[in-house]
Amino acid sequence: MITELISLVDAHEEWRGRKCLNLIPSENVMSPQVRRLLSCDLAHRYTSRDKFYRGTKFMDEIELLGEKLACEVFGAETADLRPLSGHIADLTFIASFAEPGDTLMCVSAENGGYPGIWRRGLPSFLKLNLVGFPFSRRDMNIKVDEAEKAMVESKPKLVIFGASLILFPHPVRELAETARQIGAHVGFDGSHVLGLIGGGEFQNPLKEGANALFGSTHKTLFGPQGGIILAKKAHGEIIKRNIFPAFVDNAHWNRIAALTLALAELKEFGKAYARQVIRNAQTLAKTLADYGFPVACSHLGFTRSHQVLLNYGDYKKGGIVADKLEKANIIVDHGVRLGTCEVTRRGMKEPEMQRIAEYIKRVLIDEEDTEKIKREVKNLVKDFGEVEYCFK
Ligand SMILES: Cc1ncc(COP(=O)(O)O)c(C=O)c1O
Repeated sequence: MITELISLVDAHEEWRGRKCLNLIPSENVMSPQVRRLLSCDLAHRYTSRDKFYRGTKFMDEIELLGEKLACEVFGAETADLRPLSGHIADLTFIASFAEPGDTLMCVSAENGGYPGIWRRGLPSFLKLNLVGFPFSRRDMNIKVDEAEKAMVESKPKLVIFGASLILFPHPVRELAETARQIGAHVGFDGSHVLGLIGGGEFQNPLKEGANALFGSTHKTLFGPQGGIILAKKAHGEIIKRNIFPAFVDNAHWNRIAALTLALAELKEFGKAYARQVIRNAQTLAKTLADYGFPVACSHLGFTRSHQVLLNYGDYKKGGIVADKLEKANIIVDHGVRLGTCEVTRRGMKEPEMQRIAEYIKRVLIDEEDTEKIKREVKNLVKDFGEVEYCFK
């Protein structure tokens, strides 16, 4: 049993860690230093703001350090690193500012919004009404004029920008004032783009009128898996009052130490990293489009984020594509979304994006032997074994 477990973990590490082109946009790799902090003694300990536990003096300092750094990196007035995941960060924001019967407006899951805050997710348990932003599938963005009208009509208590499929900045600046006039709280679920925001290469919703920015810490932000909430003072104080003990008890302090180091990496290397992530996504998109793939939003330059959308129309076709690519060790989801965050963190640049596009073409269009392409993929990945944009 033990041998079986260890060999499964080793096999996974060897395969996904060293032999695959990981193009899932929700994933990334931590630096060795950040990874090391995950297994430090903090992983065994408890602390809490009510000082119930003793022996916590260093832990409390680490938390404050992390919060200070997060405020700096994101231009926030308050930061909370305790949410255990992006989902819990969403829940904390939503439950803090809405009551049963209130309306939440966000991007619908059908248009690439996060399913966790759509029909089968949190809102039904919190007894909230849902209204989707009017959305252009052609531009993959919220329609500003129609959204403004819909907001005035449906009077949402919460307006949440951001999405799981996000190619372009969302119109926060354009809509925040209307939201304020109708008394709505404005959030931005930055799960996917936090690393780009922290690197200064995407919109910063807090500067555009959002009251809070929250989400996962492990997609474009290359921290350990977890969540974060950044906010303006008034909203941040309410969140801090609520989060413990309602939404998080043990916040996993090893994770918080690791996240703090990842934030330091983002502060130091984020600009160059985020720029390259976006350039890589644009190069990958353009090369794939030149091969004839159905890449979304060619009229807008394909993407301004880490994501490229191959528009196959439905998940069934997307699943077939993802299965074929997996045979060649190219890992994507069935969206089909391709993400450049992890390959960029491993040091790949535009020439490698062109090679990846070529591999994808050879699997899907030329239907070449996948074993042959897999060998080439492994060789490419072998040359990019080190994590970049971190302290050496
Ligand atoms: C937009 C968005 N919000 C929230 C989440 C949930 O994040 P987590 O997996 O950290 O709970 C996701 C997950 O992919 C997401 O895409």
